[in-house]
Amino acid sequence: MVKLTGHKKIKTAVFISGAGSNLKSLIKFSKIKSAPISINLIISNTNKAKGLKYANFFNIKKKIFTFKNIKHSEKNILKLLKREKIKFICLAGFMKILTSNFIKKFDGKITNIHPSLLPKYKGLNTHERAIKNKEKFTGCTVHYVTAKLDSGKIIIQTKVNITVKDNSKSLAKKVLKQEHKLYPAAILKVFN
Ligand code: GRF
Repeated sequence: MVKLTGHKKIKTAVFISGAGSNLKSLIKFSKIKSAPISINLIISNTNKAKGLKYANFFNIKKKIFTFKNIKHSEKNILKLLKREKIKFICLAGFMKILTSNFIKKFDGKITNIHPSLLPKYKGLNTHERAIKNKEKFTGCTVHYVTAKLDSGKIIIQTKVNITVKDNSKSLAKKVLKQEHKLYPAAILKVFN
């Protein structure tokens, strides 16, 4: 648990690899007066991440680390996080797996959003697998990040119904809509 001291917002970095719709929802949330975090840095493993546009739009510093050499990238990320006084990390569609060494340095201060009701459907293609298994519902989870993939302590979850009409694309859309509410709710829970 991370406790909020005083009224200063916790400097937060968001790690992305894709569209960045969760990043956008976190930025919007962070601008609310009572939000416990401010988004001060956006990190991506690829310059192709569409979500990087929000760095320009909201005037937030961004930096790309290729992760071709994981240790090297993580070392440089840690340096940058220190320089920018970042105290909290939100993974939001970040497609690289951080090493336990990195996670230890930010122990209990990294969260991730995952498009399933963990512990069900860890990893990729969650919606496809949920439909294939004839699940009646799925959802999304925000959890703390530990060295074991998608296995850290669950902070909060939302259920989403699966109808007979759903395919993985429609389901992803429905779940993503809930994710945008869930991540801010998780942050409030973490800092309260
Ligand atoms: C989300 O569904 C998230 O749960 C998963 O990747 C997707 C990222 O979407 N890990 P976006 O980049 O935030 O739009």
